[in-house]
Amino acid sequence: MKIQAPNTLSSESLILATCPKGVSPWLAQEMERLGYGANELKAGVETEGTLFDCMLLNLRLSMAHRVLFRLAAFAAEEPDVLYKRARAIPWERYFSPDGYFTVSASIQTDVVNDSRYAGLLVKDAVVDRFREKTGRRPDSGGETTGASVFLFWRGTQAVIYIDTTGEPLSRRGYRKIPGKAPMQETLAAACLEASGWDGKGNVVNPMCGSGTLAIEAALRAIGRAPGLFRPYFSFMALAGFDENGWGMLRDEARKCERAFAGKIVATDHDPRVLAGARKNAQAAGVEKLIDFSVCDYSETHVPPGDGLVILNPEYGRRLGEEKELEPVYSGMGDFFKKQCSGYTGAVFTGNPSLAKKVGLKARRRIEFWNAKIDCRLLLYDLYDGTRRQPARNGEQGDN
Ligand SMILES: C[S@@+](CC[C@H](N)C(=O)[O-])C[C@H]1O[C@@H](n2cnc3c(N)ncnc32)[C@H](O)[C@@H]1O
Repeated sequence: MKIQAPNTLSSESLILATCPKGVSPWLAQEMERLGYGANELKAGVETEGTLFDCMLLNLRLSMAHRVLFRLAAFAAEEPDVLYKRARAIPWERYFSPDGYFTVSASIQTDVVNDSRYAGLLVKDAVVDRFREKTGRRPDSGGETTGASVFLFWRGTQAVIYIDTTGEPLSRRGYRKIPGKAPMQETLAAACLEASGWDGKGNVVNPMCGSGTLAIEAALRAIGRAPGLFRPYFSFMALAGFDENGWGMLRDEARKCERAFAGKIVATDHDPRVLAGARKNAQAAGVEKLIDFSVCDYSETHVPPGDGLVILNPEYGRRLGEEKELEPVYSGMGDFFKKQCSGYTGAVFTGNPSLAKKVGLKARRRIEFWNAKIDCRLLLYDLYDGTRRQPARNGEQGDN
């Protein structure tokens, strides 16, 4: 899949694709499928490549948030070192003095205690470098409509990147109506990857909310590159942005699309929520691939055959809610057992005690983080005769 850069954007550097904690192993798998080496970190995956590779990764990756191209890595024990090293970067090669840029920073260091201050030091360094070399300076501010610079500073180690993405990739642009507690698109894609669904069997998504899991399943089923939705990425503001190369990458991505013979079913008991999911699927161009209907999750039609049944119920974090949700979770075990045999069952939840109420033995419990909530994707093999586990300590099952 790795495509040769056709022009000058050919100097190689380290590329970091960032993602939420828990997603790295699945993102690494996706990068390897695209032909890239993948060094898995806690909240990202490193590889090597050019700015042209960054364009491809922005277009194709379904689980990353940003694609960062490393310009400098150094020890910074004082703010002044950060300024000097940032000023030594030949920024005039990367973007125009007549353009616009923004700086974002992620810092955990005792050297400075405010990420805005660290960002300001980098911004001043960029501006001063431009003034010195060109006599002009680009405008700067908080918008992601121009070039983006990213500072990562941990302890005494600082890394400066060109952020080739800008607005995070998790905002695909199709979710016009968010529903209740929607899942990030990138997290939904990671759940599908982690479930082992091969993109061929059926996907059934009761409690679909805004439809994220069903829509991501449809995109994956037809092999549509998630970046095709977005009109703008920060790499477009870089000097030497290769518009023809970008057009070629988009054409290649379209050629990789395929037909899908399986079925995708999405249901929710709230008619307004379901209407929103349908609109979102329309915006994503996959409405025809999904059978939508309003019903209780337990009445969802599960097509004969195999595939994945995936539910993302509410977690019940407020007082009283958890008790109300217990029958919902225990009913899922019955639904799996009686209606879904032959499928893989999956429940994504941030509430371990409610997860136990499903009452079936999970084959795998995969760690994810949804914002700051420690979550699990529980996977169940649903074969004929799947049994509830005997009750222990008043709980059902062993999740
Ligand atoms: C946490 S949200 C799902 C969010 C979804 N993954 C998304 O990305 O938008 C849970 C959904 O379950 C639905 N729901 C709750 N109880 C239900 C039930 N008994 N049957 C069907 N749907 C239900 C709610 O209307 C809500 O849309």
